Amino acid sequence: MRKSVNNPQLNKHGELTHLLSIEGLSAPILKQILETAASFVGVAEREVKKVPLLRGKTVCNIFFENSTRTRTTFEIAAKRLSADVINLNVGTSSQSKGETILDTVDNLIAMHADMFVVRHAQSGAAHLIARHVGSDIHVINAGDGRHAHPTQGLLDVFTVRHYKPDMHNLRVAVVGDVLHSRVARSEIHALTTLGVPEVRVIAPKTLLPQEVEKLGVQVYHDMASGLKDVDVIMMLRLQNERMNGALLPSAQEYFKTYGLTQDKLALAKPDAIVMHPGPMNRGVEIDSTVADGAQSVILPQVTYGIAVRMAVMSILAGNTE
Ligand code: CP
Repeated sequence: MRKSVNNPQLNKHGELTHLLSIEGLSAPILKQILETAASFVGVAEREVKKVPLLRGKTVCNIFFENSTRTRTTFEIAAKRLSADVINLNVGTSSQSKGETILDTVDNLIAMHADMFVVRHAQSGAAHLIARHVGSDIHVINAGDGRHAHPTQGLLDVFTVRHYKPDMHNLRVAVVGDVLHSRVARSEIHALTTLGVPEVRVIAPKTLLPQEVEKLGVQVYHDMASGLKDVDVIMMLRLQNERMNGALLPSAQEYFKTYGLTQDKLALAKPDAIVMHPGPMNRGVEIDSTVADGAQSVILPQVTYGIAVRMAVMSILAGNTE
């Protein structure tokens, strides 16, 4: 299958064959994923939590970076679709003997892998694999460097739509380390593509990318004005592992200014929801009373991640022609 010239995720019919980033995907494709995910939510309530859509297919999870939520929910999602799942333990694989990522992929293809779920510290790793594999194999980006985490962006907008169905009448604040966050980029692209009229980012200047406004967001540097009357607060983790040098005075100082406490939450609408992609740094980005409070939907985000990942895998598997 010839890939779309402009978008390596799409085939010549404009259908999704890999999921590499939200950027460049149309609202109808995002809605197709969200609506398919909605149809999978009920699978978890069945006695036998399985549907046969990926029966006979082999899904390979290759995670070169640590993960709790993404790797586990991809595995659960693939198993609920009746796929066989291989979790390559990169630490004990031949990567440690110098094998290249593409040689590893070729060997897994020789074992009849049908789909790769890839997390890597380097931006572009999933693109590299998608360009390398044949047309009957699908690649899903499970997070690459600072670039993109598309299934996180999708599960976040799925969660928003669940609690706040009128996406065209929402004010959303994304708070924290936008500069180093692949999650923020995917969330912002998903929200703006789906027609959310007001997406704000709230962060110190040192944690914002240059020209962040070009993503279609409004920039705030203080929580008092940024959180005023918002419907949704999306907190971000401080990505200390990606920071070069001191961008902040201290974690305590950051918490004082940007940490989400009950007092700051009170600036938002009374029915605002609080989200965080995890892993959370309690007492740094978010106070425990908020993380565990009545307005938090942090654990439902994780649960919806299964249905969203089932949707992505089943749609990709159906789009080889
Ligand atoms: N949100 C997220 O990507 O979490 P993990 O790193 O645990 O997968």
